[in-house]
Amino acid sequence: MKIAAFEILRFDELESTNTTALEYAGKGAGKKLVITAQKQTAGRGRRGRSWQSLAGNLFFSLLLEYPLKRLGTLIMASALSIAETIKEYQADADVKLKWPNDVLLNNAKVCGMLLEKGCDEYMVVGIGVNIKQSPQSEEMLYPVISLREAGITADAEDFLQKYLHRFTDNLQTDAAILRQKWLQNVKGLGQKITVKQENKEITGIFAGIDENADLLLQTNGEVQHILAGDVFYVEKNQ
Ligand code: BTN
Repeated sequence: MKIAAFEILRFDELESTNTTALEYAGKGAGKKLVITAQKQTAGRGRRGRSWQSLAGNLFFSLLLEYPLKRLGTLIMASALSIAETIKEYQADADVKLKWPNDVLLNNAKVCGMLLEKGCDEYMVVGIGVNIKQSPQSEEMLYPVISLREAGITADAEDFLQKYLHRFTDNLQTDAAILRQKWLQNVKGLGQKITVKQENKEITGIFAGIDENADLLLQTNGEVQHILAGDVFYVEKNQ
């Protein structure tokens, strides 16, 4: 296995590791950086939501030059690598991917990601992993869990190191093979789901993802390519 060539910058406290990573974009071409902080005071989630930064959890952002046209590979590799890292701690862990890039453990969210485009060809992949605690609030869209609550003992720094190795490997994997692996690990494939967007909800059969990692939703005989939204599982046994 190749050694991950990421340089890690560690901070005690930041507003958001993504914001700091975006500030570093463009300063030092070709560099692969990881920005990590013990604490975030304004962690950001997808679709304008905030991300609670609880003590002992892992918050980091990968900054790398990556062509936007291969964004799908980046999306698939980043989530799949989290699932694989969790299985390094517990081989039979019930880990599933949830489109676009959440990771579920025992059917509850253990990890979320926020991908943002920096200047030039820089991409930021911001990742929050509930290592020790899970945020509990009435406003949660989906059940949440931490590794510790699932009986998995992990240390944030060790998790990050394992993740970087997995991610580096997966990023070098052929896109079609990576997509196969992603589909083998996703929850609800071939089943009924609802995708909630800003102003509408669409229900259909989750038919897969395309090469850009856009969701394929089969509705009334046609397949729609969905670029953004929150997935909800309709069937009880999912
Ligand atoms: C989501 O599920 O809504 C995405 C959450 C992404 C949170 C991580 S924590 C590290 C990085 N910095 C941020 O401000 N957000 C991401």
